Amino acid sequence: MTQENSSTVTEFILLGFMIRQDLQYVLFLVFLFVYVISVVGNVGIILIIKTDSHLHTPMYFFLQHLAFVDFCYTSAITPKMLQNFLVSHKSISFSGCLMQFFVYATFATADCYILAAMAIDRYVAICNPLHYPVVMSQRACNQLVAVSYVMGSLNASIHTGFTFSLFFCNSNTINHFFCDVPLVLPLSCSTIDINVMLLIVCVGFNLISTVMVVFFSYVYIVAAILRMSSAAGRHKAFSTCASHLTAVTIYYGTLSYMYLQPSSSESQENDKIASVFYGIIIPMLNPLIYSLRNKEVQEVLKGMSKNFLTCKS
Ligand SMILES: *[C@@H]1O[C@H](CO)[C@@H](O)[C@H](O)[C@H]1NC(C)=O
Repeated sequence: MTQENSSTVTEFILLGFMIRQDLQYVLFLVFLFVYVISVVGNVGIILIIKTDSHLHTPMYFFLQHLAFVDFCYTSAITPKMLQNFLVSHKSISFSGCLMQFFVYATFATADCYILAAMAIDRYVAICNPLHYPVVMSQRACNQLVAVSYVMGSLNASIHTGFTFSLFFCNSNTINHFFCDVPLVLPLSCSTIDINVMLLIVCVGFNLISTVMVVFFSYVYIVAAILRMSSAAGRHKAFSTCASHLTAVTIYYGTLSYMYLQPSSSESQENDKIASVFYGIIIPMLNPLIYSLRNKEVQEVLKGMSKNFLTCKS
């Protein structure tokens, strides 16, 4: 008897952007371009850091993981979205949806924690430079990265587990372009109070704890920079955190916009745009922010292109 009641939904429909089909093709090309840049940029950052021994410092160790995490979470959602721009039956299977938000939630959460780890790294480098090699040992860096991945998998497992123990029986239409827990929950015919509460607690905990770490690191960093007597020293210290500061501002700016706006039908459209920014644009921006503003990465790129040219001639 209960069997009949259980999940009759075998796939979800992802409405995506509700616009004319010809515009969908345009968006397909735009996002394909963005995705390619993102993959090339992030994989490129990982390879550059691996091959150049000058970049074997904690800062670049974290940057390598940031690039990996960005690559993973954008890859969880973008290919399916690209496919759905081209077809009229915009669907995703039940298990595809589950997998999508497991991977997405794991790496999106890990991203917050890696950004926080990078803030700690900058804090130690600027406020405690003499102890930097001891405090930011390989072991400590590994631990910070491990914590990021553990917190990511924890967030993902909790929400995936609790969401897929619910029944889905009639509505299966998601007004979005990828699966995420907050979008799937309202479709269930079970009571979702516990799920909603868990979501608020987990998202709240992850965001507040990482934002606090970033915020207080920068309070100390700014105070230390202001105390420096030489303008050159101030400039040098600031330039080592400029990329990270840009990246965290964009990242948490987008997240707070997503979570802090009141829900309404109009905000649902805004939310889709914010999600595109978060899920697709930011992973593309990070490699750009780090390579355009960073002298060391530029040196390596210059060296590589020089080698490349001499090899060819
Ligand atoms: C945790 O998982 C939920 C559900 O998939 C997701 O919406 C959220 O963005 C994830 N990240 C954080 C920081 O909680």
